Amino acid sequence: MKKKLSIAIDGPAAAGKSTVAKIVAERLSYVYIDTGAMYRAITYKAIIENLNLEDEEALLDTLLATEIELLPSENGQLVYLDHKDVTKEIRTSEVTNSVSIVSKHPKLREEMVRRQQSFAKSGGVVMDGRDIGTHVLPNAEVKVFLLASVEERALRRHTENMQKGFPSDLERLKQEISLRDKIDSEREAAPLKKAEDAVEIDTTSLTIPEVVDQIMALVDERIG
Ligand code: CDP
Ligand code: CDP
Repeated sequence: MKKKLSIAIDGPAAAGKSTVAKIVAERLSYVYIDTGAMYRAITYKAIIENLNLEDEEALLDTLLATEIELLPSENGQLVYLDHKDVTKEIRTSEVTNSVSIVSKHPKLREEMVRRQQSFAKSGGVVMDGRDIGTHVLPNAEVKVFLLASVEERALRRHTENMQKGFPSDLERLKQEISLRDKIDSEREAAPLKKAEDAVEIDTTSLTIPEVVDQIMALVDERIG
């Protein structure tokens, strides 16, 4: 039997992490874990419970009392918060524009990392996020850092919104993505950063299949 690897995919907002991570996981019959969805879920709960997003202790207490499940389905990964499907609710712009504030708290991150590591303990996982290669799975056999220009990333989100019939403003998306990248990169706890041993892929002018092929080539090298 082939060795089951752990694959870490990090990078800034809308670089294509979840899209390619899902495809790579499917090809390998691995489990896909979207860690951003976990931070989004607790942010959603904090908003509906009217918590102060700067209050680390209140956020941690809430997280400790909260169950977050990531379940695969035919329509992609579903996110459950205390047994309720919140897959759509965690993608609103209100959550998107608050999630980086919630995610900067070190104690909250510690608990998230603990949960993420337990999901990954048997290997055979593709996990995407900001600190997977640096903190969550430092021993992952394959580490990828996906990049793309902020213009391209905003355009990708804009196209996605238009396809879904959602209102969308390209310039505003660009500003929101830049701000989120800035907060994620400048926070003290596990900032968005390429792991030293990660392979950087600039996807600005690459198609999804081209990015997937590059990652699969790295996987093949490691599986031998
Ligand atoms: O898909 P998108 O790029 O919009 O973001 P996401 O992966 O859903 O992550 C949402 C936010 O969660 C990020 O902007 C980070 O603030 C936080 N996050 C994090 O801090 N660490 C992770 N491992 C994953 C996400
Ligand atoms: O997970 P992350 O926020 O990094 O990005 P995503 O949600 O996977 O991708 C953002 C959008 O870019 C999706 O609509 C993809 O179809 C599109 N895209 C891509 O992911 N990779 C490319 N090379 C080109 C487009």
